[in-house]
Amino acid sequence: MASLLGAALLALTLSTPTVAFVPIGGGALTHVSITGTALLQKVTDSCRAVAEAAGQEFKPTGTSPGELVQACLGPRAPGEVSGAKFLSALQEIYTQNGLVDRDFVNSAPHHFNSEAFLEGRVLITQGMVAIKANIRKENFKAARETLGRVLHTLQDFYSHSNWVELGYREPYINLIRPDLPLESLADVNTPTCSDCASGTCPNQILSNILKEKKLTSGYMGIFSSQKPKGKCSHGGASDLTSTAFPRGGISKDERRSDNMAFHNAAVDAAIAASLQLLEDIRLAAGDHDFLRMMGIARSSVVCFVIDTTGSMSDDIEEARSVVYEIIDSKKGTQDEPSEYILVPFNDPDFGPMIRTTDAQKMKTEISKLTATGGGDAPEMCLSGLQLALTGAPSSSNIYVFTDATAKDIALKDTIVALIRSTKSTVSFFMTGMSGRRRRSLEAASFNDYKDLALASGGQAIQVSKSQLPQATDIILDTSTSALVTALQRAMVVGVQETFPFVLDESLKNITIYITGTSLTFTLTNPAGVTQSNSEASGKLGTIQTVGNLWRIRLKADKQSGTWMINIKSSQPYTLKVTGQSTITFIYDFVEKFTGPHSGYAVLTGRPQTGKAATLMLSVIGRKGPSSIIVQEVGLVPVSGPAAFTNGTMTDMGNGDILVTVDAVPEGEFVLILKGEDKLSNSEYQRQSTTQMSISKVNIQAAVDSSVEPGEAFKLPFSVMTQGPGGTYTINARNDRDFPMTYPNSIILSTGQYANTTLIITPSATTESGTDVTLTIEAKSSSGVDSNYAVLRLSVVKKITDFSPPKCEVTSVSADDCPKDVLQCGPFRWELSANFTDGNGTGIESISLNQGNGTFTHTALTASIVQAYYNASCCSQILEIVAVDKVGNVGKCYHSIIRSAGFSAKTLSLPLWLCLLVSIFVARS
Ligand SMILES: *[C@@H]1O[C@H](CO)[C@@H](O)[C@H](O)[C@H]1NC(C)=O
Ligand SMILES: *[C@@H]1O[C@H](CO)[C@@H](O)[C@H](O)[C@H]1NC(C)=O
Ligand SMILES: *[C@@H]1O[C@H](CO)[C@@H](O)[C@H](O)[C@H]1NC(C)=O
Ligand SMILES: *[C@@H]1O[C@H](CO)[C@@H](O)[C@H](O)[C@H]1NC(C)=O
Ligand SMILES: *[C@@H]1O[C@H](CO)[C@@H](O)[C@H](O)[C@H]1NC(C)=O
Ligand SMILES: *[C@@H]1O[C@H](CO)[C@@H](O)[C@H](O)[C@H]1NC(C)=O
Ligand SMILES: *[C@@H]1O[C@H](CO)[C@@H](O)[C@H](O)[C@H]1NC(C)=O
Repeated sequence: MASLLGAALLALTLSTPTVAFVPIGGGALTHVSITGTALLQKVTDSCRAVAEAAGQEFKPTGTSPGELVQACLGPRAPGEVSGAKFLSALQEIYTQNGLVDRDFVNSAPHHFNSEAFLEGRVLITQGMVAIKANIRKENFKAARETLGRVLHTLQDFYSHSNWVELGYREPYINLIRPDLPLESLADVNTPTCSDCASGTCPNQILSNILKEKKLTSGYMGIFSSQKPKGKCSHGGASDLTSTAFPRGGISKDERRSDNMAFHNAAVDAAIAASLQLLEDIRLAAGDHDFLRMMGIARSSVVCFVIDTTGSMSDDIEEARSVVYEIIDSKKGTQDEPSEYILVPFNDPDFGPMIRTTDAQKMKTEISKLTATGGGDAPEMCLSGLQLALTGAPSSSNIYVFTDATAKDIALKDTIVALIRSTKSTVSFFMTGMSGRRRRSLEAASFNDYKDLALASGGQAIQVSKSQLPQATDIILDTSTSALVTALQRAMVVGVQETFPFVLDESLKNITIYITGTSLTFTLTNPAGVTQSNSEASGKLGTIQTVGNLWRIRLKADKQSGTWMINIKSSQPYTLKVTGQSTITFIYDFVEKFTGPHSGYAVLTGRPQTGKAATLMLSVIGRKGPSSIIVQEVGLVPVSGPAAFTNGTMTDMGNGDILVTVDAVPEGEFVLILKGEDKLSNSEYQRQSTTQMSISKVNIQAAVDSSVEPGEAFKLPFSVMTQGPGGTYTINARNDRDFPMTYPNSIILSTGQYANTTLIITPSATTESGTDVTLTIEAKSSSGVDSNYAVLRLSVVKKITDFSPPKCEVTSVSADDCPKDVLQCGPFRWELSANFTDGNGTGIESISLNQGNGTFTHTALTASIVQAYYNASCCSQILEIVAVDKVGNVGKCYHSIIRSAGFSAKTLSLPLWLCLLVSIFVARS
């Protein structure tokens, strides 16, 4: 049972000398290790529970995220599944965890500094409410972000308070239980520390504080050395109070020779506390949604944005048939989509977004679409696309079906910002040439769609309505759980060019797409065998062509090595080489931040000009990070000669690589990486699909809390330019159409940040857990310089119900159970319990968390819910979990184990006692 955690801990210990309370990239010692240990453990528990419930065994081949995902999703369906989503989810949580040290550096409650216990707990418990609300609304990204921040604060308690000095080794459960009091807090007039001139003393806590078990924490002053009389300091160079009497500090952030035991105890308690919080979230959400939040889902998502105006009936019919084909042909495999998203648009309406995990529901919804209305005018295509981009998980493939230009073209910059921030790929199926109706497709507008496809690494496919069925194979190709891109180029002017690319052994179903008109090409394999565009079925593969799209499916044998394709055209064209492989990577452009704990933050916009570009990269091998070598990482312009700018790599531990590129290409670029797969000793090459470019403009903004329905929320932001000063227009949009006020323009002088505020007011009827994607753009009057920031807000109702459902065991009859457990076979025991939720929100679900018996309960609507359980005497432990409507979790635990000194016991609450009992039981 403990072996996996043991191995995870070992892996973490090997790559990082110790674990500690500093953010990602802040040296070798990080919050990441603590958070990662807890997350991997909880995901393991959850995967095991799901597997056991399905009567299967959970047997990961190792502890890497890829292997965990494969084991978790693997046994239920054939095929390979990529660990990229899980790794991205982990990274999002780690990043937000680290950002607490940037965005809230001077906020005592966020770090449990300066005895801000009550306020710190409010952050945790309100964060937990928001996480549960977000999960209910399937806004998993918002849930992960809050989870990262909340875990930081929870973990800091053990480092910054005197909890471990007081002798406690288990977590302080009351920090995640707002219904329990925080007691024995040292008041502001109570001195708590003795002086420590050296700054490193084994234990500065005053003996009466230790004796009375009073809770205190270190004061932290970044700008001032003031603290109440006699109080402990946090300590360290950035804490000015550490030189004020009593000097020193009690922070256990880093392991030193003088604080080793306390540091280790704090780390262990922080891991255990993180596990408790995650268990609470898991029980409230259920294993299915908990794992989805953690990115453990097949990565294929089907996302369609469909024009439903009058002339679209053939297109809708084709979209419907593709969806049916995907659903029917991929059912039960790893390529079965984990989610379906459908956004219709018309004129002037668009949406709503239909999002479901249920294939049948998707079939029904897409069958309901009919083509009606819409005059000669263009339609709300980009508004529909905006919903899809903000609603779909990151890195989704989105397909847009339309035969008209976009009326809402003003959204184009917003769409590009969303594409860059989500890394989703958008492809367009344009059927405007049919001539079936008069509205013609203007060249300029087709180019708008083409620009968007290009920016995202998607394709702009222009076919007649009758050709559409031949063009949609591309959708089937991309609905797989392990899609990767080996090469992608876009030539903005027609040229002849030879593109070399490396295919590795792990790649399957390799497909090359070329879009363009009047072109010819020749493909050459590593052995020098060639095939030209005129050979539909040749030695190397099969070539299909429809409209402006060429699709080349390579034969499955002997592919690895360096290939070449020579393309000749007088027109612009795009080239993309994709395949299926579990060797993949994730990346984010980041910037370093400094402060008491420095680290790296993911950019919310484009990287700045005049600086090296930095990015955090994780490469996923077939058997964890050690099975893969990264030799080169660089940025390459999308268009023009393939001038590769080499990045320098720094190993950050845990499989993270920091890449610094000093010479960033002008114009749009993508990331390319090359290395060796140690399992097959073959070279591989991978490329990012989303285009990026640097900008002279920079927008700084951070969301620091959730938003309440009907309440105005103020978001301060600052804008700076390194280009010419002057008037910059500000444009902000959100995907929920909530009213916003902000200045329409701002006057900048070169190199100076100008500060302003945006106010957004979610409607009073917004459901709790809704997320809002906010895009702020700043553009110079010439339009040459611009940048954006994409931010996510969660709308969460303030809740007052913090009391979990209560359980009272009303009867147990286990007298039939024999003393000798080996003879338990034919005998049964039973238990009855009453569940109530006081004057809380009401019980929403009651389920069996442990126990192999039969479980029934009466209707949840009654004020008292009666539960009945019976089981074989061989199944000795019972745990029932009741969750109320806002996610408070109550438990009922009962064990009939009779062992030395420990007889049958019933415990309804509190949770920590249950845990202790289970540990005791497990060991006895
Ligand atoms: C490759 O694609 C074909 C047809 O689309 C499919 O039947 C096959 O299962 C795929 N192979 C793999 C390894 O996914
Ligand atoms: C990039 O750097 C790596 C080592 O840092 C080197 O092996 C490689 O040849 C360089 N590539 C180019 C194109 O300069
Ligand atoms: C504007 O905000 C920045 C932080 O983004 C801050 O450093 C600066 O002092 C602020 N300037 C003014 C004039 O308030
Ligand atoms: C349990 O609930 C039932 C139904 O409301 C009630 O009749 C019974 O008295 C309750 N038992 C206890 C011990 O409260
Ligand atoms: C029910 O609500 C009342 C008034 O708000 C409060 O005084 C009481 O303590 C609550 N009871 C429970 C069991 O929560
Ligand atoms: C166990 O509970 C189930 C469901 O309530 C019931 O049908 C069954 O008779 C019970 N078995 C025993 C032995 O009481
Ligand atoms: C339920 O059964 C499984 C397999 O038979 C066993 O591993 C597990 O410990 C049992 N659970 C309880 C609570 O008895």
